[in-house]
Amino acid sequence: MQTIDVDLGERSYPIYIGAGLLARNDLLATHIVGRQVAIVTNDTVAPLYLAQLEQALSGYNITSVVLPDGESHKNWQTLQLIFDGLLSARHDRRTTVIALGGGVIGDMAGFAAACYQRGVNFIQVPTTLLSQVDSSVGGKTGINHPLGKNMVGAFYQPQAVLIDTQSLSTLPERELSAGLAEVIKYGLICDAPFLDWLEENMSALRALDQAALTAAIARSCAAKARVVAADERESGVRATLNLGHTFGHAIETHQGYGVWLHGEAVAAGTVMALDMSQRLGWITAAERQRAVKLFIAAGLPVTPPADMTPADFMEHMAVDKKVLDGKLRLVLLRGLGEAVVTGDFPRDILDATLSADYAQQLAQLKN
Ligand code: NAD
Ligand code: GLY
Repeated sequence: MQTIDVDLGERSYPIYIGAGLLARNDLLATHIVGRQVAIVTNDTVAPLYLAQLEQALSGYNITSVVLPDGESHKNWQTLQLIFDGLLSARHDRRTTVIALGGGVIGDMAGFAAACYQRGVNFIQVPTTLLSQVDSSVGGKTGINHPLGKNMVGAFYQPQAVLIDTQSLSTLPERELSAGLAEVIKYGLICDAPFLDWLEENMSALRALDQAALTAAIARSCAAKARVVAADERESGVRATLNLGHTFGHAIETHQGYGVWLHGEAVAAGTVMALDMSQRLGWITAAERQRAVKLFIAAGLPVTPPADMTPADFMEHMAVDKKVLDGKLRLVLLRGLGEAVVTGDFPRDILDATLSADYAQQLAQLKN
C-alpha cells in the first residue's frame, strides 16, 4: 500500500492506494467518528462492491443509498434521495458519508456531506480510474444544472480517500482509457519524467497490473495533492489541472453528454492545446507527437469530431469557468511538464488551432 498526504493544515487527509483495500476496516475505522455510516453508491457499483464494503463496516449502523447510474442523474432530484436516506434512518451530525463509485457518485455524495446538517464526516472510495486519480482528491463536489455542468457545488474535503486498485478489474476498458487521459495529463502539466515511465508501462496499466496501477495512481495523486495544497480554491495554479478541458468540454457539450466520455474529450482537447502550444513556438513538433502517441497507446481519440466547426468550439468555449471578465483563458504548455494558464495569445493562432486538420496530422504521425 502507498499513502499520499494532502497537506491542507487542519484539514489534511491521507489517500490510501493498493490492491484489496476495500476489506481494510482498520483504515476506514480511523476516519469514522460515530457509529453511523451512510454509503452512497449506484445501481451499477452496488452489485459489485457494496456487500464487500458493508462487510468491512459490519460493526456500524449502516444505511446504503443506491442511486440510479449516470451523469444525467447528477442533479437536485437525485441529491434529494441521499437526504431522504439520511433523514429517514435518523442520521445525526456524527454520521459519516462514504462515496462508493466513480466521479458522479463522489461529487454528489461529497456535496450531500457538505450540506447535511451543515457538514458531516466524508470518505471517498473511488472505483473508476478517473475518480481515483482526479475527482476524489481536492474537495470539489457538486451537481449539474440544466444550464451548465458542475455549476452548483461546494469545496468540501474528505477525511480520507481509500483506493482499491482491484476495483478496476470490473471497469469497462473504455472507462479505463478515459482515466488514463487524466494520468497522462499530470505528466504533461508538471511531471515530465512521468511521461517516460508511462511510455514504458502503458501496456501493463491497460492489462491491470496491480503494481503498475498503484504506482501510476500514487504519482498522479501526489501531483494533484501538490497542486491542491498550493491553491485549494483555484485562484491560480489549480487551473492547470484543466489542460485540454476547455476544448474538451466544448466537444462533450456539442456531441451531447455521454457520447464522448470526459477523458476521451480531454485527450482530443489536449491534442488541440498541444497544437496551439506548438504554433506559439512553446513546444516542438516532436514533443507534440510524443504526447499524441501516448494518448494513442492509452486507447484514446486524438482527433476532435470531424463535424465540429471553429464556430461550434467558440460558442461552447465562451461559457468555460476559466473565462474571466469576458476573456478566454487556456491551459497551454511551455514545454512538456510545464503548464501555463494564459489569455495572452494572438486570436489568429487560436483560429488556426480550431481549424487545423487533425486527421492529416494523425496520418503524418503514422507514416
Ligand atoms: P462515472 O462516475 O459516471 O463512472 C463511469 C461508469 O463506470 C459509471 O457507469 C459507473 O457506474 C461505472 N463504474 C464505476 N466504478 C466501476 C467499477 N469498478 N466497475 C464497473 N463499473 C464501474 O464517471 P467518472 O469518469 O468516474 O467521473 C466523471 C464525473 O466526475 C463527472 O461528473 C465529472 O464532472 C466529475 N469530475 C469531478 C472532478 C472533481 O474534481 N470533483 C474531477 C473530474 C471529474
Ligand atoms: N479536476 C480539476 C480540479 O480538481 O481542480
